[in-house]
Amino acid sequence: MFQYMQNCPIYFGAGAIDHLGEYVSELGSKKAFCVFDPGVEAAGVPARAVASLEKAGIQCVCFNKIMSDPTINVVDEAGEIALREKVDVIIGIGGGSSMDAAKAISILMSYPGPISKYVLAKPISVDTKVPVVAVPTTSGTGSEATRVAIITQTETNGKWSVFVNTNLAVVDPELTFKLPKHVTAFTGMDALSHAAECVTSNVTNPHNQLFGCAAIRKIIDNIYTAWAEPDNVEARTEMSLAANWAGIAFAETMCHVGHALADGLSIAFHTPHGYNCAMALPVALEYAAPAVPKEIKMVAEAMRIPLKGDETAEEVGHLCADTLWALMRKLEIKSLKEMGYSREEVLQIAHEGSTSHLSTYCPVPVTLEAAQAMAGRMYDMYQ
Ligand SMILES: [Fe+2]
Repeated sequence: MFQYMQNCPIYFGAGAIDHLGEYVSELGSKKAFCVFDPGVEAAGVPARAVASLEKAGIQCVCFNKIMSDPTINVVDEAGEIALREKVDVIIGIGGGSSMDAAKAISILMSYPGPISKYVLAKPISVDTKVPVVAVPTTSGTGSEATRVAIITQTETNGKWSVFVNTNLAVVDPELTFKLPKHVTAFTGMDALSHAAECVTSNVTNPHNQLFGCAAIRKIIDNIYTAWAEPDNVEARTEMSLAANWAGIAFAETMCHVGHALADGLSIAFHTPHGYNCAMALPVALEYAAPAVPKEIKMVAEAMRIPLKGDETAEEVGHLCADTLWALMRKLEIKSLKEMGYSREEVLQIAHEGSTSHLSTYCPVPVTLEAAQAMAGRMYDMYQ
């Protein structure tokens, strides 16, 4: 048996942002709390969102202090303002950071804070009473399609989570046109990791394989064009759809050791989530492959890797890794060595890789030694 679902209604298409007010009105909301970061603000996206909301008669309170990997402190600060202003909908506009923060803020509108009571190493589900609207401005996180909110522990930099429903999402590919090239590369690799990890997890099912493999095909076919030609409407649209589908795919199952190792890199080096996922995905697929022979073949075929048909699962895993390393080179993603980190420093991520709850979804148990071997391999094989 398996469960499948879609988190919330999604409005998709170029220009959808200009109808945000109409969509939010359908929730019965009258006063919105819009959260975003200064980069998204400079790109003019919140201004477009607010114009649409105000046109629909919805008052707006804006909070522009969401940073990459939002901390429990910033969520508490935003939550206080949202409570004081008596808003009745929280709108996250941006990458995963703003959408995740919006989910966490909605908890503080419904239950007493601080947010650290709900964001835990072993995540819990919280039913909130104030709706959450997600407006992604990257093609990566898929947060609009999942119940996951990842919030950083201010003291330890640990990445802990809570599960909260999103009530509505507006996915507008136009919002990704101005993304810098490296952000297109990193966020695209994040989406690819969501799809490939959940298809090879120990809780994979036919529904997430359908969405996950479709997302992988779209990313493999379009990520380079979206990176090389930022205004290419078709490639951007395909990437937006793919990131959303990858989100739907991993929402009902989970990512596994790739994301666990990626969190280790984030804790150690504060490098962007998508960059960390790119480093970890090849070795995660190699590691999981022997336990999921059918699924790793699905991933390879979705990656357009020509297979003879007599390869072992292990060989298919290596082919996937080689293909990913070649893609990363094409996208000019620097190696950990090029970033200035030593092999010894990178090996330190093995603790998070082996103890994260995400690794329990890996089809092969992740010991500390195994995580060390994967960390070493990600350093050695991509230089
Ligand atoms: Fe991710």
